[in-house]
Amino acid sequence: MQVLFAPLQGYTTGIYRKAHAEIFGGVDAYYAPFLRMENGRPREKDLRDIGDDHDLITGARITGAMVNGAKRTGAKTIPQIIANSVNEFRALADAIMQKGFTEIDFNMGCPFPMQVSRHRGAGLLSDTQTVKSIMDEIAQLTVKNSIKFSVKMRLGQNSPDEAFALLPILNATPLAHITLHPRLGKQQYKGAIDFTSFVRFYEECRHPLVYNGDITSVSQMRKMESGYPKLAGIMIGRGMLARPSLAAEYKAASDTSAASISERDLLNKILEMHGKLYEHARSTYQGDNQILSHIKSFWEYLEPSIPKKAFKKIKKAGNQSEYDAAVLSLNME
Ligand SMILES: Cc1cc2nc3c(=O)[nH]c(=O)nc-3n(C[C@H](O)[C@H](O)[C@H](O)COP(=O)(O)O)c2cc1C
Repeated sequence: MQVLFAPLQGYTTGIYRKAHAEIFGGVDAYYAPFLRMENGRPREKDLRDIGDDHDLITGARITGAMVNGAKRTGAKTIPQIIANSVNEFRALADAIMQKGFTEIDFNMGCPFPMQVSRHRGAGLLSDTQTVKSIMDEIAQLTVKNSIKFSVKMRLGQNSPDEAFALLPILNATPLAHITLHPRLGKQQYKGAIDFTSFVRFYEECRHPLVYNGDITSVSQMRKMESGYPKLAGIMIGRGMLARPSLAAEYKAASDTSAASISERDLLNKILEMHGKLYEHARSTYQGDNQILSHIKSFWEYLEPSIPKKAFKKIKKAGNQSEYDAAVLSLNME
């Protein structure tokens, strides 16, 4: 099975993806957080973020076709877009194609009220007509530009009926795969996963299917793999932020040779990754507040992988010297 790193706005930034690929690896593709429209054009900040990945590639354009990945680091990045109409979709897809990417993911799952109320993300799932017009556009672009599209979606905003009403349209569109997070938008990221609907979708979906939701261990990955042999992959978000070695551990276990990583090695790698992100934050932002607010998000989900006391100290640090001391205390544990 492919292991894909889910997009997480505010966490899996360009520098995070690059450092993760260099230090932990095991990920077949990193999905960048969504690119959206702002003041009538593709948001600059989001475009810069996927630009960072291109900086990794020396001589990025290979005979006109950009590789969706980074040769030096193996950080293959797939940009994602979120749109509420075919016009928005076209503008965003154009901006990404201009950068030379050859694969784009389309978001139909974001549950943030700001997006849902604007008819984007999970807010689009009940609008069969608009989805159909976007899928028609995907079909055209795929033929004209030799570009691949995938869809990342939930079961619905309010009911799983929404996904099943869309499935014939999706099945008829030339998609590379569908990633399904089997929750409703109204549940946000909590509450039970609807496995019954997942299984129905798995059976009725004609595209390669990627599962996403609440995966935190290699044993869960193995269970999904054996339970659903047609699955093309697993996409992991918070579980990978919490244990960045997860993908590599899964891959190593399938190699039969390697065992899972020791807690000390995991901590050392986390510290190495932190070093790169911290350096980037200090050279990009100014003042303790800005720097700390950016770098602290690196630790937010890591509580299960690091000693409790140090985690608390890092959270509480109010300036850079307190923060540095807190991070240093991790080495003493
Ligand atoms: C803070 C946060 C930001 C997210 N940003 C995105 C995003 O930009 N695009 C997207 O498709 N999903 C986004 N997601 C959803 C995740 O990609 C993923 O589908 C979700 O967390 C469930 O998977 P997990 O249980 O493995 O984390 C975000 C989730 C969180 C918690």
